[in-house]
Amino acid sequence: MSKPVVAILVGTRPEIIKVAPVIRQLKKRTIPFIFIHSNQHYTKELDETILSDLKLDRPDYQLRVGSGTHAVQTGKIMERVEKICFQKKVSILVVHGDTNTTLAGALTAKKLQIMVCHIEAGLRSFDYRMPEEINRIITDRISDVLFAPTLIAQQNLINEGIRSESIIVTGNTVVDALRQHQKMARKRHTFKHLSVKPGQYLLLTMHRAENVDDKGKFIKLLELITYISKRLALPVLWPIHPRSLKQLTQFDIIIPPEIIKINAVGYLDMIQLLSNASMILTDSGGIQEEAYILKKPLITLRSSTERPETLSANFVVDTDVDKVDQALQAFRANTIKWGNELGDGLASMRIAAKLEELLEQKEH
Ligand code: UD1
Repeated sequence: MSKPVVAILVGTRPEIIKVAPVIRQLKKRTIPFIFIHSNQHYTKELDETILSDLKLDRPDYQLRVGSGTHAVQTGKIMERVEKICFQKKVSILVVHGDTNTTLAGALTAKKLQIMVCHIEAGLRSFDYRMPEEINRIITDRISDVLFAPTLIAQQNLINEGIRSESIIVTGNTVVDALRQHQKMARKRHTFKHLSVKPGQYLLLTMHRAENVDDKGKFIKLLELITYISKRLALPVLWPIHPRSLKQLTQFDIIIPPEIIKINAVGYLDMIQLLSNASMILTDSGGIQEEAYILKKPLITLRSSTERPETLSANFVVDTDVDKVDQALQAFRANTIKWGNELGDGLASMRIAAKLEELLEQKEH
């Protein structure tokens, strides 16, 4: 009988970052695995630079699916992952998060009766307009082992009828990733070519489909960001995601002078930019977590969050000026509080230990 094989599937920038600590743990324990990258993200800044910043080996398989509609992207990933599952006789497929890559991998494996393990299971925004929410719910429903990062995530799964025996609360691997890279990040000369100074800027990331694919909403958000910048008398630094850049061009939107747009940056520079910002404005999931871990005041440019653990320091404002004013008031009054609900930095160790156990069970 051939040895059971674990396959780790990633496709986008946040998946690479958050899975990296798990890959390191697998290597440390000499657990054999294959590393698959769908290349849902493929531009240098979102892919190559991240892989080299993290000093990860090249993936064993690059599926080169690139961009496309949800159906095209998901379909291509499914076809190509299926081929590898057959070729390599994969017995456990590990997916992460909530992207089209996550869903495509989970569906493919489950239909082949391959065990599916989902890292970052149980997050819920309860907003079904988000493609990520659909990806999360379906992936969790068909996963065999659910690595829930927090107790809230665990409860969400139990509320949906998932058997508690299949859930393991691990902490979020984003804590592990940050801890492992902060020291390396400090060596970067991130500010050398920037026009902002450490501690004297607001950091913006914004790329969600629901924010940048609608011209009216996009403009409204840029106005709100300008308002925040003026109220705090600080410039806004925006490392721009390719989706947002494409939409700015397509809608012919000129961004206001308060917002300084730069190319997307690698992970280590991003840690520097996050660590030195006065406040962070985002619609990203991972950045909400990173801001909370780094104890930065945060304004989330969405109507919901799937990270309620961060709410003591995270003002979810969407486009509401009153909510922004409340956030600015708390910021000025210094009343914002941070905890350590997101994890203790050992999530990747717990996940790797469970994968090792599962492999051993499959061997016997
Ligand atoms: C995806 C995830 C989102 C995650 C984000 C992180 C889904 C449904 N969404 O969104 O949850 O927060 O990744 O960045 O999976 N593009 C490039 N180069 C790239 C990648 C994308 O130019 O390397 C542009 C293309 O125009 C593409 C668009 O961005 O059409 C959207 O890319 P896609 O991967 O579909 O979704 P993201 O917005 O990146």
